[in-house]
Amino acid sequence: MKLSRIAIFALAAALMMSTVRPAQAQDAAALYKSKCQMCHGADGKGDTPAGKKMGTKDFHDPEVAKASDADLIKITTDGKGKMPAYKGKISDDDIKALVKYIHTLK
Ligand code: HEC
Repeated sequence: MKLSRIAIFALAAALMMSTVRPAQAQDAAALYKSKCQMCHGADGKGDTPAGKKMGTKDFHDPEVAKASDADLIKITTDGKGKMPAYKGKISDDDIKALVKYIHTLK
């Protein structure tokens, strides 16, 4: 009885370790949904009412696609034009994860 409990605990721990990476991607997706989606849209095209009004560019635009991660991280951190700055509002690590997530919106 006691042994099977330990086995279940070990299994649960192993499962938790193996889901660390997808959990992070999930966090970036959730963060994007709550903070970015209203302007940039679920697919990153920026064709939301707010996005259209502000001139949000499509993340698939060649100009954005060729920008380096460092540039995109800087824009998200410091803002640009009508794009709000997220310095101090979102951690540097989360901003990095968000930029990675933006690249998956293809
Ligand atoms: C209030 C609307 C708004 C919100 C919310 C917003 N953005 Fe933006 N974002 C913009 C606009 C407008 C631009 C274009 C700025 C420019 O080029 O003048 C932009 C530009 C960008 C760019 C540069 C690439 C490009 O399209 O020119 C990145 C990267 C970006 N946003 C990421 C994010 C992330 C990540 C979030 C959420 C944490 C976010 N944005 C939230 C409006 C918004």
